[in-house]
This record gives sequence, structure tokens and C-alpha cells, in this order.
Amino acid sequence: MSNWAVRVSDVSKKFRLYHERNQTLKSAILRGRTSKHEDFWALQNVSFDVMEGHTHGLIGSNGSGKSTLLKCLAKIYWPTSGTIEYRGRMASLLEVGSGFHLELSGRENIYLNGSILGMSKKEIDGKFDEIVDFSGVEQFLDQPVKNYSSGMYVRLGFSIAINVDPDILVVDEVLSVGDEGFQRKSFEKFLEFKKRGKTIIMVTHTMPVVEEICDTVTWIEKGTMMATGKAKSVVASYKKSLD
Ligand SMILES: Nc1ncnc2c1ncn2[C@@H]1O[C@H](COP(=O)(O)OP(=O)(O)OP(=O)(O)O)[C@@H](O)[C@H]1O
Ligand SMILES: [Mg+2]
Repeated sequence: MSNWAVRVSDVSKKFRLYHERNQTLKSAILRGRTSKHEDFWALQNVSFDVMEGHTHGLIGSNGSGKSTLLKCLAKIYWPTSGTIEYRGRMASLLEVGSGFHLELSGRENIYLNGSILGMSKKEIDGKFDEIVDFSGVEQFLDQPVKNYSSGMYVRLGFSIAINVDPDILVVDEVLSVGDEGFQRKSFEKFLEFKKRGKTIIMVTHTMPVVEEICDTVTWIEKGTMMATGKAKSVVASYKKSLD
């Protein structure tokens, strides 16, 4: 019997959509304090388990709530109701490089970002070469990251995060970032993760990727769960809905 690594129970997320938001002091005074808003449910009663060592895909059309769910999983958003439980260390690759300090060099940012992501100095020392190697930015290591190209920036952020070595990895469309060579390297890194028995939750629109590496899938439309279960059957229902 295997165990769950992540348990999503009845998660809902509400956003407030403001109409005619007061942009200036003058309009605030003229209109008074009342701002019009409506409640928008980006997620409603979503529940599923991800088993230890499984790769779980989140699929669905644009605006269906996948990134919102992923942000809840990554603890960037808090669900309005429901709970998310973990067994193991979770790391997310949602906002790679978000902890970077623009004026600091690549080298300094590896230490800064690594420690934000929960690695000790010793741990970073041990992984430093691998991080630099994977990122491919070695030549620019002592330049401030503000001078990096956007691809280099993301590659360095990705390399640090993937080397945190979490038990559970939460990923949003990372495979679509970077050039083809880097995409392939990232894909291989995921496969290696999988082989080592780690749990991955990923969002992607690329069905061949889902079919190749996901064991289970949850399909969401308009914030509601359409299906969850074995990758093959859920992807088949999703594809059928597109016909
Ligand atoms: N911070 C926010 N405030 C208000 N509405 C939001 C916020 N974040 C997301 N939404 C809304 O929630 C809905 C779901 O957005 P989300 O980004 O989760 O979709 P998605 O499934 O990731 O789409 P895509 O495939 O295009 O990436 C959208 O209607 C979006 O406008
Ligand atoms: Mg998204």
C-alpha cells in the first residue's frame, strides 16, 4: 500500500473582482468609500490525493484555475476554504528567480536564493558547481543578475530550485521556459526526480508530456473538477471534450 504525499481536500478559492476601482484620490472622494465588487470563485470544491512517488498533472483550458491551484499548493495563496496537507519537504518552481536581488551577482544570488529556499550554507557549497553547471551561466557568474538575459535569469533560478532536492516538487509550465536545449535538460531532470521516487505536481498544456510522465491527472474547467484519476483515461476524456 502506498501513501499519499499531498492531500487536497475540498479546496475553494475566491477572488474579489473590483469594478470601477478608485484610481485617484479625487475619484475616491467623489464616489465615496463604496467600491463595487463581485465574488469570483476560481476554484470550487477541488479534492484529490497525489500518491508518494507519483507525477500528477493538472490540465484544463486557459483560465480554468490550474495556476491558482498550484499557487495554493505552493503556499503563495491561501485557500478560501478546504485544506492542503503534505508529507515531506515541498519546493515550488512557480516564480523562479523571484528571490533574486538585481544588484547582486549570480554567485551571491545562489547563496541568497538557496538559503531562502531552505538550504544551509554547507548544502549550497556542496551543490554550487552543479547549480552553475546546469544553469550554463558560468561565464557571467560574477556579473549582477540585472545584466542577465531573461532566459539566463530563469535558468539560474530553475537550477537553484531544482537542487533544493525536495520530496515534493510543484511546477508550472517550466518546460516551456528557456531554449530547446534547456527544456530537454529540465525534462530529463524531472525524469531523474521521478526515478528517485519523488513526487511531482505539474501544470502543462502539452498532452504528449502528460502522457509520457504523468501517472495521474486532475482535469479542471472553470474552477470545477471534471475528472481525476489515471492519466490515460483523464487525458482521453479531456481530448474528447475538445472535439
Ligand atoms: N489574483 C487574482 N485576482 C483575481 N482573479 C484572479 C487572480 N488570479 C487568477 N484569477 C482568475 O482566476 C481564473 C483562473 O486563473 P488561472 O491563472 O488559475 O488559470 P489557468 O488555468 O492557470 O490558465 P492558463 O492555462 O491560461 O495558465 C481566471 O479567470 C483569472 O482571471
Ligand atoms: Mg496558468
